[in-house]
Amino acid sequence: MKVCTTIAEIQHELASFDKERIALVPTMGCLHEGHVSLIEKAKRLADVVVVSIYVNPLQFGAHEDLDTYPRPFAGDVQACQDAGVDFIFHPENLYPEHGIQVSLQVNDLSQKLCGASRKGHFDGVVTVVNILFNIIRPHLAIFGEKDFQQLSIIQRMVADLHMQVEVVGADIVRDDDGLAKSSRNRYLSDDERQQAKEIYAALRLMQSQADKHSNINDLLTLGREHLKQHNIAVEYLEICDEISLEPVTHSQAGTTARIFVAAEIGTTRLIDNLPLTNNEEQPCV
Ligand code: PAF
Repeated sequence: MKVCTTIAEIQHELASFDKERIALVPTMGCLHEGHVSLIEKAKRLADVVVVSIYVNPLQFGAHEDLDTYPRPFAGDVQACQDAGVDFIFHPENLYPEHGIQVSLQVNDLSQKLCGASRKGHFDGVVTVVNILFNIIRPHLAIFGEKDFQQLSIIQRMVADLHMQVEVVGADIVRDDDGLAKSSRNRYLSDDERQQAKEIYAALRLMQSQADKHSNINDLLTLGREHLKQHNIAVEYLEICDEISLEPVTHSQAGTTARIFVAAEIGTTRLIDNLPLTNNEEQPCV
C-alpha cells in the first residue's frame, strides 16, 4: 500500500493501470468497520482500491465540528493496510489557496432532511466528490447507506451531469445493539451510548408496525414517542421516498419508502435510516 499526499503523485501511480478497474472509497478518515465494509465491497468490484482521506472544510457549517473532527491518521493507515487497500490519497488541501470560485450546487434534494439544518453541506459534499472523481478518475465509487441522502444526491449528480463513474451504495454496518457505526459515536459517553441504541430501536419499531398502521402519521408518532421516552431530541423523523426524498403517504409507500432520522444525544448529532418495508434480515435488538 502506498500513501500519496499530492495530486501529481496519485495520478502518477494510477497512470500505470490501463485495463484495471479502479474503485474510489471517499472518506474523511477516522475509519471504522463501516468504512472497512466499503473497502471490502470495493475490493470485490474492482482491481485497484483507492481510499481518499480528506476532512472537507466546504461541507462543515460555521458552528460544526470541523476543528475537532477526529483525525487519527496512523490508525487509518493501519486499517487500510489491514483491509488490503492499494493507495491512500491524503491531500493537505484540495482547494485553491485563495478560495474556490466555481463549485457545484444541489437544488431541492439538499433542502430536505439533513440539508434543512445544514445549509450548504451537500453543496460542499458534491463539490469535493466531483474534485476527487476528476483527480482519481475511478470506474466506480462506493458510499455508505448511512448517509443515504448523500448517496442519493451523488447518484443524482452523476446522472444529471453525465459523469462516467458508477456510484455503488453499501449497507449500513451496525454494532450488536443496532447503533449504526459512525465516526461521531466516539463522542458519546457511556450513558449516551446506551441512549443512542434507541434510535435504531425506534426505526425497527416503526418498521415492524408498518403493516398495522394505515396512516403514516401514526407510525411517525410511534417512533417519536419511543425517542421521547428515552429523552432523545429529534431533529427530524420522516418517511420519504428514497429517490425523490419527498415525504410519502401510506398509499404511496412502496418498496422505495424509507424511514430517516436525525437526533441529538447530548451534543452529538446522529443519523440513521431503514427501509419502511423489511425485505432484508436486520439485526434484532
Ligand atoms: O461521507 C463522507 O465521509 C464525506 O461526506 C465524503 C463523501 C468523503 C465527502 O467529503
